[in-house]
Amino acid sequence: MTDRIVLAYSGGLDTSVAIGWIGEATGAEVIAVAVDVGQGGESLETIRQRALGCGAVEAYVADARDEFANEYCMPTLKANALYQGHYPLVSAISRPVIVKHLVRAAREFGASTVSHGCTGKGNDQVRFEVGIQTLGPDLKCIAPVRDLALTRDKAIAFAEEKGLPIETTKKNPYSIDQNVWGRAVETGYLEDIWNGPTKDIYDYTATPEFPPAPDEVTITFRSGVPVAVDGVALSPLAIIQELNRRAGAQGVGRIDVVEDRLVGIKSREIYEAPGAMALITAHKHLEDITIEREQARFKATVGQRWSELVYDGQWFSPLKRSLDAFIEDTQQHVSGNIRMTLHGGAAVVNGRRSDSSLYDFDLATYDTGDTFDQSQAKGFIELWGMSSKVASRRDQRVAGK
Ligand code: ARG
Repeated sequence: MTDRIVLAYSGGLDTSVAIGWIGEATGAEVIAVAVDVGQGGESLETIRQRALGCGAVEAYVADARDEFANEYCMPTLKANALYQGHYPLVSAISRPVIVKHLVRAAREFGASTVSHGCTGKGNDQVRFEVGIQTLGPDLKCIAPVRDLALTRDKAIAFAEEKGLPIETTKKNPYSIDQNVWGRAVETGYLEDIWNGPTKDIYDYTATPEFPPAPDEVTITFRSGVPVAVDGVALSPLAIIQELNRRAGAQGVGRIDVVEDRLVGIKSREIYEAPGAMALITAHKHLEDITIEREQARFKATVGQRWSELVYDGQWFSPLKRSLDAFIEDTQQHVSGNIRMTLHGGAAVVNGRRSDSSLYDFDLATYDTGDTFDQSQAKGFIELWGMSSKVASRRDQRVAGK
């Protein structure tokens, strides 16, 4: 039987050419797999037809938008995940859901090998292949750009020579990856890290310098998951979309960073994640009133480690799973409303309300009605400083000798 390879297919030039390129290099039949994670653009049907037109023997297409929002974006939100304090893991969380579908398609169509369009320099090759190894240990991986010398120039020449139904003239100077959680733009002009991003780079966000009137929004959470916007119950996907629109109109969620790739390269990235950044801000503020201090402090370090694991392609790893269990446990009481103003590039929380709040007005107030017994503080401070005081006394004694 002819060998079969499933290919992660975007519908763009590189993966369209990869269908025939892989076929010629390996003699295998290629099955194109297109997964909708909310990247917008063409319909899955258009993409399916193009895959078949480019020589795929089968096309597997999946609308994974709700799956992605529920099972990938929501855990990222619960973790308040920001890699290196900035990046809400837009591309990093889309790879594992695509991997699930690739492995499912490989089983369905009896493929031995999984293929993707990544280069050999980035994180995404790692995320795809570590995910595939984990979910399908018997499956092999091949990346035509990295392993079969498929350069951009060769791709254009191949597409023209074979008359593939794909545009070869449209030149985008940037490498872009996008989904409902956000958008990542790199390469070209941005590789000079002194160059400021030009206006044409952005798509999910409007310029924050000239914002429309402030937009006040109330987000309702239940156990760490957003369930309503301005009192209207919506699915996680619909909430992310709604906030992409409203926070995007205010220029919220633009991020310009040089980040540490897993492969050891520092790289410049522009991200825009209006919905994600508004949601993470709101969620964090709700945690501030509903999670106990020590649990909250520890959760911040867990969230950071979680972000690194996910960035590094370890979505399906045992440690990530264990950290998920911890994070999930912390979310039990993260329910309530957050009111925030979206304006001029910022999402600023200005009201919070929760039935499971730990904020105790009577303890906090400086007005009459204060129930906090201040006389207890004196002895507490004495003991709290004791060990440092003992050590300092020793240091002075030893220095004095
Ligand atoms: N650097 C980001 C990451 O590793 C985004 C990469 C997305 N790809 C792109 N072509 N911009 O997650």
